[in-house]
Formats: sequence, C-alpha cells, structure tokens
Amino acid sequence: MIPQSFVQELLSRVDIVDVIERYLPLKKSGANYFACCPFHGEKSASFSVSPTKQFYHCFGCGVHGSAIGFLMEYSGLGFVEAVKELAAQVGLQVPDDGHHTAIPANDSEPLREAMATAARFYREQLKHAPNAIDYLKRRGLSGEIAARFGLGYARDEWQGLQRAFPDYQAKTLADAGLVIDNDQGRRYDRFRDRIMFPIHDRRGRIIAFGGRILDQGEPKYLNSPETPLFEKGRELYGLFLAQKAIREAGFAVVVEGYMDVVALAQYGIENAVATLGTATTPQHVQSLLRQTDRIVFCFDGDAAGRRAAWRALENSLETLRDDATLAFLFLSAEHDPDSFVRAEGAEAFRKAAAGATPLARFLLQELSARNDLDTAEGRAALVHEARPLVTRVAAPLLRLQLLKSVAEAGELTQAEVEDAYGLRSAARAAGRPGAAAPPAAGFRRTAATTPPMQRGPMRRKPPSAIGALLRLVMQHPAWAARLPVDLVPADSAEGRALIAIIDMLSLGEPIPAGGLGALIERFRDTPHADTLSRVAGDLVDEEFDDAVIETLFDDALRKLHTDAIAAEIADLMRRDRETGLNAADRHRLAELLHEKRNPGSAAKL
Ligand code: UTP
Ligand code: MN
Repeated sequence: MIPQSFVQELLSRVDIVDVIERYLPLKKSGANYFACCPFHGEKSASFSVSPTKQFYHCFGCGVHGSAIGFLMEYSGLGFVEAVKELAAQVGLQVPDDGHHTAIPANDSEPLREAMATAARFYREQLKHAPNAIDYLKRRGLSGEIAARFGLGYARDEWQGLQRAFPDYQAKTLADAGLVIDNDQGRRYDRFRDRIMFPIHDRRGRIIAFGGRILDQGEPKYLNSPETPLFEKGRELYGLFLAQKAIREAGFAVVVEGYMDVVALAQYGIENAVATLGTATTPQHVQSLLRQTDRIVFCFDGDAAGRRAAWRALENSLETLRDDATLAFLFLSAEHDPDSFVRAEGAEAFRKAAAGATPLARFLLQELSARNDLDTAEGRAALVHEARPLVTRVAAPLLRLQLLKSVAEAGELTQAEVEDAYGLRSAARAAGRPGAAAPPAAGFRRTAATTPPMQRGPMRRKPPSAIGALLRLVMQHPAWAARLPVDLVPADSAEGRALIAIIDMLSLGEPIPAGGLGALIERFRDTPHADTLSRVAGDLVDEEFDDAVIETLFDDALRKLHTDAIAAEIADLMRRDRETGLNAADRHRLAELLHEKRNPGSAAKL
C-alpha cells in the first residue's frame, strides 16, 4: 500500500494543470482552464481544470477528480500505477511499504535545503549590518518590505558561509552555486558585500539569489548560475509573492529589475515581476498567461528598454491568445519603474499601466518608425519585416487584425498581404470563402476550444445548511476546527463526511495541502469518497472571496445552531404531548423557546 502521507506529498508538489496539459491542450478562461472533454464526444469545451483547487471536472459528463484520478481515467491506470507515473513526472520515488517519507529521486532536495539555509543566514546578517540597512533605507525601503522579500546581506568576507554550513567543503554548496572553487582548489563565497535578493519558484521555494553591490562596483548585480534548481529563462523574480495580487488586479506587470519589483510593492503595487537579467522568454509569457489575461511590460525609458520591449514582443507572438492582451508601457527616458513610482506615485503608475500601448499597435508603430512609408520601397519593407512576426501569431483573430493593419500601412489589400505571406490556402485563393489559412508553425493550442459552457438554468437545488458547511470546509479544511462536532447531524451522507473531516483535524492529521484534489485522495476508499467527490465536482467552478466565505461560514454555523434548537424543541413538545415533561425539561424548553425568539441570547446548547 502507498502511504497516505506520500500521496499528500505528491499532490502538494504537482500542478494538475501541468499534468493534464501533457495530454490535452488547455485554454485559460477566467480562473480555470478548459478543453474538450476527453471522456465523452463533444464540440464545446466543458472540461474544466481548476489550478487553485487542483481538481478537474466536466460539466458535460460529470467526470471529475484529482491529478491521480485523471491519470487513472485517461490512461486506464490503476491507483498505484497512476501514483507511480505521477511521482516519476516530478522525480519522487514511491516509498516501499512502511516507509512514510518521500524520497526525492534526484538530488535537488539537498540543494533546496542549502538555499534555504543560506537565505536564513543572509537575512540574519542583514540585521547586523548597519551599512546594508542604511543602503536599503536610502533607497526608500521599509523593514516590512525587506522582510516580505526576504532580503539579506552577504558580508564582505571570502568564506562567510562557513558559519552557516558546518561542512563548507560539501559538493552541494558548489552545485547550488553558493561558492566558487578556484584553480588552486580554494573555495570561496560567490556573494560578498552584496544585498541578497532570494529568488523563489512558483511554490515559494528558494532556487537562486541575486546580489546587488552596495553603491558602486562591478558587476552591479551578480546572480546565481544556472543550477538544477534554477533556469533563468523560466523564472520570474517576485512571481510567488505576486500571484495573489495578479489575480486580484487582473493583470501582471513585467519589469526589468529586482529593485523595480520591490519598490513597486513598497508603493502597494504588488502584481509586478521581473525577468532575471535576460530577455522575456516565451516560457515567461506562458507562465504569466496561466495566471492572468493581461500582461503589461514596463521597461526602462531608454533605448535599451525599447529593445527589451521589442524582444518581449517577438518572444510573445507564439503564445498570444485572442482573449489575452499584452501591452507595453514606456516610461520617459530618465525613469525606470522604481524611480517613476517614487516620483509620481502609485496612482500615476496604475494609470500609465492601464493606458499602455497594446502589442499590435506597438508592432505597427515600431515598423512604421523604421521605414519611410511615403515611398513604395519603405511600404514594401514594412510588409516584408512584418511577415515573420505576423505568421508567428497563433491566435487566429489577432493574426487577422495584424494582417489588416499591416495591409493598411503597406497600402495593400488584406488578400494581397496574405498571398505575399503564403497564408492563403489553394481553396481560398480559388475563391471559396471560409477556408482557413494554414496554421503557423508552433501553433500549439489548435483544438477547437470554444468558451466554457455557460452555467445553464439547470442548476441543482441549493445545498442544505450541512451541505453548505461541507462545501465551505472543503475549500478551507482548516475551518473544520471551528465546528462543534456534536452539532453536525449524522443523518445525511454530507453530515457524515463533514464529521469525518472534523475528526481528521482533531486527530492532528495535517490538512491536505494540494487543494480539493488532495482532500479527495485523502478520503479515497473510505465511505465518504463518493459524497466528497460529488461535492467537489459542484465546487470546481465556484470562486469565493475569503471574506465572503467567512460570512457564509458564520451564516451556516448559525443555521446549524437554529436547526439544532428547532429539533430539540420539537422533541420536547412531542414528549410533552405524549407523557408530559419534568421540571428540568420544562425549564429547558422555555430556555430554548427564548433562544429561538432572541437568537444569540445564550441558551447553552
Ligand atoms: P538595471 O541596471 O536596470 O538595474 O538592471 P536596476 O534594476 O535599475 O537596479 P538599481 O535600481 O540600480 O539597483 C536591471 C536588471 O538587470 C539585471 C538584474 O536582474 C537587474 O535587476 N542585471 C543588471 C544583472 O543581472 N547584472 C548587472 O550587472 C546589471
Ligand atoms: Mn533602478
């Protein structure tokens, strides 16, 4: 048997979106991803995957489950094989019977530990480094922001990390990029006399550092080398901390520098991330478009910033979607986002971000600026230069818009441009309308993913108070601890499932950390599996605000109290009719009736 602790560990490490995306093209819409359901024939996309809940659900045929459940269903694997397959995908080894801890199959775990230890050490050093504290203060950062970003300091010494690592010669330290071994076999710290910016992966684990020299010196920023943990072109500085704000603001801001991210956060703009001294890559764009439909690139106002913006544009084209907007904000030449927000304030920045130049306009502006459109040669050059860009765009509607704009700027018809680009299929060229242009190379999300099925009027009946509580607790299992277990009636499957969750907590079991999917797996093969799985299916497209959840939870709890009172009153009245009540019962009844009329007045229940 596979230990439950391993299943939970596994589910907390995988992302169901990544898992399913290996098999199906997914398309983001709102908070969830959609595809045509692989389990029943359909033309509209009613198969939905929730990254926050780590759960999939088909509104058409009703299948649903965790990442493990998906593999079982999709590949016809048994539970054990599905777990093994999933574990292999993330490099975990399924433990033998009796082993209850996850053993990483690769050696990245020691590297992670080393990074965490180093980060702790650097943070501690900052507390005792008045020069570094002074530097951060001069740059306008509060202690709170420094703490939020986990900023630290590496002292000006060659082997400072010796104090953090008893075995300074360990291979791990070199593998993690924390130390450098020179030709003479002498080892020294990579980062010295620098402000340390830890770089987190999407799950908040430290995978690299950036170190800024205090004041003058070269290089200004020193970064960790690429290691098994850290691939520059994939990671974005600040993404882990910004995730929530990106969802709330409805867009992400991409800037160039560590200090830009930190300064914006200091001014309350928390949805910013930075590339790590590299150009924006397609992976960067893809990873952001998983979280939001709008990206605003905000680069420095100088020529280099403009070049960086163009690179970002080029690298975004294949990833673009018709329902996403990418826009470019150009600050005036003397500013970077850090200095801009300090000079002009957060509101000015937000306003500028809202008015940023959309990608298609930037593309045309840039090409128009490079060519003299008053001459035939210039117009031809524009159309020519636009070709590799336009044909890279996979999003069909956006491509059409670009074709139209290019045609207009080049003083040609759309058909002429399509012909020149070789985009018109033979059928279409022969005059048959409706035939589509052949897809561009690299066109990944080709499946006919129409918008998700609307939630129709065929809604299920509203859940009972217990049902409502169960739904809330399934989204916030920790809240089960606030429920008095004896108030929950065990006369329904939902009530019994709720009691099982409360019991799990009161027995001190860790709360499943991998969303709904993990909760469902925790109760696989128990009498509650079907109930929990069905309710999870209902929940998959619901999004509650935490504040709203709190209110709903309190309401449901109050309703539970009222129901318990009503039931006890009914019982006492029945006994009164049948056999009469003794004095104590009579007193209890009066108390309950009083409580019923004046809720909250206190009858002990
Ligand atoms: P900038 O030179 O624009 O620095 O580099 P900055 O962010 O404005 O920094 P401050 O305000 O002077 O502190 C932008 C980014 O390019 C990378 C870093 O990621 C930096 O944040 N970079 C820059 C390096 O990797 N190495 C360098 O030497 C300089
Ligand atoms: Mn700067």
